[in-house]
Amino acid sequence: MPQLASRVKRLSPSPIREILEVISQPGMVSFAGGLPSPASFPALNNLSVPNEELQYGASEGNVALRELIAAQLTERGIDTSPDRVLVLSGSQQGIDLVAKLLIEEGASVAVESPTYLAALQVFSLFGASYCCFSPDSMQSINAQSSPALVYSIPTFQNPSGHCYSHEQRCSLAAAVDACDAVFFEDDPYRDLVYEACDRTPVCSLLQRSDWVYQSSFSKSLAPGLRLGYLTASESLFPLLVRAKQAADLHSNRVCQHIAHQLLSSPGAGARLKQLVDDYRRRRDHFDTLLQRYFGDIAQWQLPVGGLFFWLDLTAAPTLDTQPLLRAAVQQGVAFMPGEPFFADASAGCGALRLNFSHASAAEAERGLATLADLFSSAIAAHLTAPNHACVVTPDVAL
Ligand SMILES: Cc1ncc(COP(=O)(O)O)c(C=O)c1O
Repeated sequence: MPQLASRVKRLSPSPIREILEVISQPGMVSFAGGLPSPASFPALNNLSVPNEELQYGASEGNVALRELIAAQLTERGIDTSPDRVLVLSGSQQGIDLVAKLLIEEGASVAVESPTYLAALQVFSLFGASYCCFSPDSMQSINAQSSPALVYSIPTFQNPSGHCYSHEQRCSLAAAVDACDAVFFEDDPYRDLVYEACDRTPVCSLLQRSDWVYQSSFSKSLAPGLRLGYLTASESLFPLLVRAKQAADLHSNRVCQHIAHQLLSSPGAGARLKQLVDDYRRRRDHFDTLLQRYFGDIAQWQLPVGGLFFWLDLTAAPTLDTQPLLRAAVQQGVAFMPGEPFFADASAGCGALRLNFSHASAAEAERGLATLADLFSSAIAAHLTAPNHACVVTPDVAL
């Protein structure tokens, strides 16, 4: 083994990546990743890509695409302009760039509990320590915990599905303003909205703090394009461009051109509306099935947007759900155990995340029936052996 950088010991494998390999097996019902429905992907057959898009380009990205993004961001109330928009190779890259710029080894990062596990993966690689908050308890974001960064997904949170109320958004902005942290708002699900709700970017409510706001085309167009974007307060933006240059020069120009063509085509609005209507139907069907199969053992909120149900196993709140994944996969169903979503691992037992956008109606019925059987048996065994407390293992082994 070569001599590796010391941070490599903090490089945990991504449970999502491991799961993606397993769920691509034929016949597997997947509730695991945040995969869009393949039926929603836009048709590309009428698109042409000029040869010049095969040349190297600007690190900031396609000018026309950035103009379109800046117009949307301004409409959302964010203070920006096309020259303060950076196109990313997926919004996952934004997490990496922000972490590189802001997380010193040992630095405190405030995250929701639970939060997006691939953000935890990146922050931990750079040596973050965590202070956790929830929409109802923002006291831990304070000058004493002195976070360098506050990371939040206020709109259709991954994994909980929660959408902050206007009051919660104002409280979060005030808590950030009261300490010296940079606020990092991650907003990939905002277009997938099923009921009227407040989606005001928290960045637009800040009075004094530096901020980064990012979103993605993965959920509303297609994740294989690998395109997202960010904008940031004036002092941070040039540094993020430099970090992007150092990482990959620029995002894929062919994909940026395609995304611009799709988003500026006359049918773009109707396509998004159709997608949202389809996902709302899937969500409602999934909720009906959950009531049938999980009603006795779990509780959940109907998500007003996004792609996930978050289930609390009320019948066994200390059950470690990770070992159940192997058994579920053997029976042809994949789900996401709750534990990896918690920075504080001891907080994460007795929960799971289920995606509702990928499985067909028949697959959802079959998969949830199978999972409910498995969980009911595991809960019964857990309750007869109450000393078997939550044991959290660092990775999801399949
Ligand atoms: C909260 C959040 N941020 C970032 C990402 C990364 O998305 P992408 O890199 O596909 O834009 C995801 C993907 O599921 C996510 O849920």
